[in-house]
Amino acid sequence: MPRVLAIETSCDETAAAVVADGTTILSNIIASQAARHAPYGGVFPEVASRMHIEVIYPVVQQALNEAHLGLGDIDAIAVTRGPGLPGSLVVGLNMAKGLAFGRGLPLIGVNHLEGHVYSLWLVDAPPVPAVKFPVLVLIVSGGHTELILMIGHGQYQRLGGTLDDAAGEAFDKVARLLGLPYPGGPNLEQAAQDGDPAAFKFPRAWLEGTWDFSFSGLKTAVLYEVKKQKPGVPFGPDETPLDLAQVPSLAASFQAAVADVLVGKTVAAARQFEATEIFVAGGVSANKTLKAEFARRAEIPVRTPPLVLCTDNAAMIAAAANFRYLAGQRDALDMDALPNWRLA
Ligand code: KG4
Ligand code: ZN
Repeated sequence: MPRVLAIETSCDETAAAVVADGTTILSNIIASQAARHAPYGGVFPEVASRMHIEVIYPVVQQALNEAHLGLGDIDAIAVTRGPGLPGSLVVGLNMAKGLAFGRGLPLIGVNHLEGHVYSLWLVDAPPVPAVKFPVLVLIVSGGHTELILMIGHGQYQRLGGTLDDAAGEAFDKVARLLGLPYPGGPNLEQAAQDGDPAAFKFPRAWLEGTWDFSFSGLKTAVLYEVKKQKPGVPFGPDETPLDLAQVPSLAASFQAAVADVLVGKTVAAARQFEATEIFVAGGVSANKTLKAEFARRAEIPVRTPPLVLCTDNAAMIAAAANFRYLAGQRDALDMDALPNWRLA
């Protein structure tokens, strides 16, 4: 039963976790920097890497403490190698290399997106439901919208992805247009609760004949609607001229448009590629409207991670590393960060 200590610093969460057997979480520490980036309305890369440096050591220490383990009990060190912010990735990589070198432990570099996929293997209570491949995977996060056919462990075929904004990025940008605070996704979801999803007919980019997505037209449509409501009133990111009473319905209509396209294309791809299951992972998979829409329209089972594992964490990196560890992957101590690393 391998025990993997994993480190994740690809964006604005400094995270460390210990996972046994790729499925059982012994500890899962996440230090979020969201509050520090909120004034900028997005992640400020220099601030992110400095904050990772400040907290990485205590975060790793706490992950070991909460697992009641020392480094001597760990079988491998895993770390996110990419994709992500270069200055953030190197902080985690250097910490992981130091631990691996100091203790003579195997070092395993993990693709952040593969981590999101393996968040579906982490369960509250064993046994882990068996997986029969192929599985259709939708990764929807702040940086990615990827539709992937998973043929086996570590084997991916990329079907398509976003041509412009990632789904989470669209949530964040539209939230900002509506005067909602960063991070936009959860705040927009909350605002949408009191809104009418049919109030505004926002466009859906189906991009027929491809498995790609596009959200920039939808974002622009929301912008036009906002401008139409109070023409001629200038506004910046922190002051919207919007009729505040309209915010819930604008949010709900936008959210419905995103969910419609994500679910429609994923379900169609699952049918075409004869997938046995649909996995939805990444920050946006926390969205309740998206989950409800999948439950309503999917013809096969749909798995989403538990809420804490939707957004960035290190437990998912450990889970992915476990399969690579068992398959014999060992990375060199001079491994570089891969800021634009694709999964397939
Ligand atoms: O996976 P993640 O933590 O980071 C990346 O790898 O990008 O995803 C963060 C993204 C953000 O864009 C955030 O707004 C979005 O996920 N998000 C949500 C929700 N919770 C997080 N979007 C919609 N609804 C949510 N409940
Ligand atoms: Zn992520």
